[in-house]
Amino acid sequence: MMMQNESRLQPRTAVIIGASGGLGGALIGALAAGTNYDVVIAVSRSPKPVDTPATIWFQANVSEPAELDGLVAEIEANYFSVNLLINCIGTLHGGQGKKMPEKALKQLNERDFQRVMTVNAFLPLAVLNSFAKLLRQKNVDGRSASVAVVLSAMVGSTTDNQLGGWYSYRMSKAALNMGLRNVAIEWGRLKGSPTVVALHPGTTLTALSQPFVARHNHRTPKDSAVHILQVIGGLDKEDSGKFFNWDGRVLAF
Ligand SMILES: NC(=O)c1ccc[n+]([C@@H]2O[C@H](COP(=O)([O-])OP(=O)(O)OC[C@H]3O[C@@H](n4cnc5c(N)ncnc54)[C@H](OP(=O)(O)O)[C@@H]3O)[C@@H](O)[C@H]2O)c1
Repeated sequence: MMMQNESRLQPRTAVIIGASGGLGGALIGALAAGTNYDVVIAVSRSPKPVDTPATIWFQANVSEPAELDGLVAEIEANYFSVNLLINCIGTLHGGQGKKMPEKALKQLNERDFQRVMTVNAFLPLAVLNSFAKLLRQKNVDGRSASVAVVLSAMVGSTTDNQLGGWYSYRMSKAALNMGLRNVAIEWGRLKGSPTVVALHPGTTLTALSQPFVARHNHRTPKDSAVHILQVIGGLDKEDSGKFFNWDGRVLAF
């Protein structure tokens, strides 16, 4: 028989999707070094790097529905629920020496656009959908104790756009923000739903930003991870559906 407070005995679990990336890897390091979570689960489609901090690592390509379902089933079987989910997957360009983001409308093409939209806008929502039941808290008197974060980007803010360019990336992050807002509204109607937010990590030196950072101020992934976790630590249920900057400011959509 289930005890009423059984879930208080369950480990506090954090899951990072896109753990092979610069920000994903740094978040794992920061979470593993902290004391807020008993279990830090790293998920990536790439193999586990040798120098990763001690965590549980799942290799799964979340673009494949069967792999995503299998991942969620395994986490549920072993850890019951998820208190923090951070999606760090994202794409801006086609990799070293390959396609750069569009500077002009004439460079926009359907194939690249669809790839960027799928990775940046669809996948984070597919992940949220699959993790929904693990994020829903069954124990704590109707209050939401879990948080889901999607790493978005300031350039996805329509209000902030003064420079133009980067059509696919900007549009995909704007779509992600809208999707996230929808999820917050939909889940907000359900008891025990998590707080869900979009978060701009700030310009951070990673493979994704590397071709562009020379001209900007930027932080290390380690520094950005600290800021991201500070923002997450300050969230409450009323913040669900908002778009946050790395310094805790609420950004305009
Ligand atoms: N760095 C910045 O300055 C900055 C600024 C604003 C927003 N962001 C956002 O922050 C997030 C993390 O970026 P990052 O800088 O850490 O980039 P990164 O180092 O390039 O990492 C990107 C991650 O996304 C994964 N990924 C890409 N395409 C995928 C796919 N189709 N299926 C599964 N995984 C896929 C990569 O996995 P593989 O290793 O398997 O390819 C990798 O783990 C992104 O959403 C990005 O848009 C970053």
